Amino acid sequence: MLKIDNLTAAYNGSKVLFGVSLEAEKGEVTCLVGRNGVGKSTTMKSIMGLVDTPSGEIYIDKKKISGLPTYSRAKAGIGYVPQGREIFPQLTVRENILLGMEANRKSDTIPEFIFEIFPILKEFLDRKGGDLSGGQQQQLAIARAVVSEPKVLILDEPTEGIQPSVIQDIGRIITKLKEKMAVFIVEQYLEFVMEISDKCYVMEKGKIVMEGETKSLDKKALQGLLSL
Ligand SMILES: Nc1ncnc2c1ncn2[C@@H]1O[C@H](COP(=O)(O)OP(=O)(O)OP(=O)(O)O)[C@@H](O)[C@H]1O
Ligand SMILES: [Mg+2]
Repeated sequence: MLKIDNLTAAYNGSKVLFGVSLEAEKGEVTCLVGRNGVGKSTTMKSIMGLVDTPSGEIYIDKKKISGLPTYSRAKAGIGYVPQGREIFPQLTVRENILLGMEANRKSDTIPEFIFEIFPILKEFLDRKGGDLSGGQQQQLAIARAVVSEPKVLILDEPTEGIQPSVIQDIGRIITKLKEKMAVFIVEQYLEFVMEISDKCYVMEKGKIVMEGETKSLDKKALQGLLSL
């Protein structure tokens, strides 16, 4: 579904990713983990075309999307929730979700499946986004990204700054969404990764240093790669 092949990425000419290759399939949650500053968000931004990628390719299905502008990548079927969520606090929940439909707009009605996955948002449709709790804002950000039914959903640290009980809700939502799309997540919270992911990549200094099915990974080695 999503395939990244030998990708490099750079800020102002200085490289941050050095030949990253990975794949994420529909029906699976694929996680990218690693310490602070290793290049996880840069990987996500590269997929969206928000960072300079001097070499390497990115595909959705068989379609090459590297080289395309960001809106074309969204249109090709990627939903993106950036680190820190970035919902519009002054807009209502309804307006925030409708914004997610701009790229592939078919109608002005929010499809019912959104409320099946995110019942809380139906209750709060006319509230301002900024008045929701952190966990609810994360749900809103995810809803906005999936309302156009992308083939791939990418989430940058969905549990960051969210309390443990609400993290469970986010986990359930992600597990439901993977039936419809490939889900690719950056995550630092290891317990959550172990619980929800099918496949895992570990990054160090802009390179993938370990990968495999989550349940078959050497947990000690993984912890070693993530501890300071
Ligand atoms: N806009 C930018 N301009 C220059 N350098 C940047 C920029 N954004 C990130 N970097 C650098 O690129 C490297 C990778 O950053 P990135 O944000 O991808 O890390 P990360 O793994 O997502 O970290 P974190 O866990 O803290 O979110 C870091 O050294 C960072 O300082
Ligand atoms: Mg990051």
